[in-house]
Amino acid sequence: MVRIGGVLKMAAVISTFILAIYLVFQLLEIRVDFQLGSMLSRSVSIKDGSKPVGHKCGLSKACPVGQFAFKMASGAASVVGPKMCLEDKMLMSAVKNNVGRGINIALVDGRTGELNKTDSFDMWSGNVAPLIQFLKEIKEGTVVMMASFDDPATKLNNEARKLIADLGSSAINNLGFRDNWIFVGGKGIKTKSPFEQHIKNKADTNKFEGWPEVLEMEGCIPRRED
Ligand SMILES: *[C@@H]1O[C@H](CO)[C@@H](O)[C@H](O)[C@H]1NC(C)=O
Repeated sequence: MVRIGGVLKMAAVISTFILAIYLVFQLLEIRVDFQLGSMLSRSVSIKDGSKPVGHKCGLSKACPVGQFAFKMASGAASVVGPKMCLEDKMLMSAVKNNVGRGINIALVDGRTGELNKTDSFDMWSGNVAPLIQFLKEIKEGTVVMMASFDDPATKLNNEARKLIADLGSSAINNLGFRDNWIFVGGKGIKTKSPFEQHIKNKADTNKFEGWPEVLEMEGCIPRRED
């Protein structure tokens, strides 16, 4: 009886030992895989200087060769500023500290995709004259990205609306107090831009108290070849 018990005990010890070794190897393998995985993603992010997975600006699919990837969002109420990303570069955002109440604008070279400048124009307590001046100085072939924050419209006048309509905007003539609006147009564009979203500030449909929901848009802008 004692001997049989001892053999059984020994068998139990051995099988526990084997199981333990097996588990250790399993764990090691998982750890090895895990480290390889993170090393791979690290080397990828070093190589292109961006996020390890996904498309430029986090788009759901890649843009065709010769087109610029963009993603943008309007401001959220009066709290969070708008965002504009182009070719994986954040052009304007709250984090970059270059957005403001009113209309936010980024000018991009339509041939190279390089940022020319950004600015914001307060359409609640500001003056429309600097916006008009800015719009008049935009050079032919420039891609113009615009996003609302809080109130983009109170100080707008017909001259400013006409200049923005000339960049391809359809919604600008109907843009009102605390509407949300995002738009990509171009100086010298001959049609209306397909890249535009507008939501009215209406008490019965507003997401936030006093403001409509945030608008988001992504797409691919054809590079200018001429
Ligand atoms: C922006 O565009 C203007 C007009 O084409 C040019 O003179 C200026 O050098 C550009 N600025 C930058 C930073 O690219």
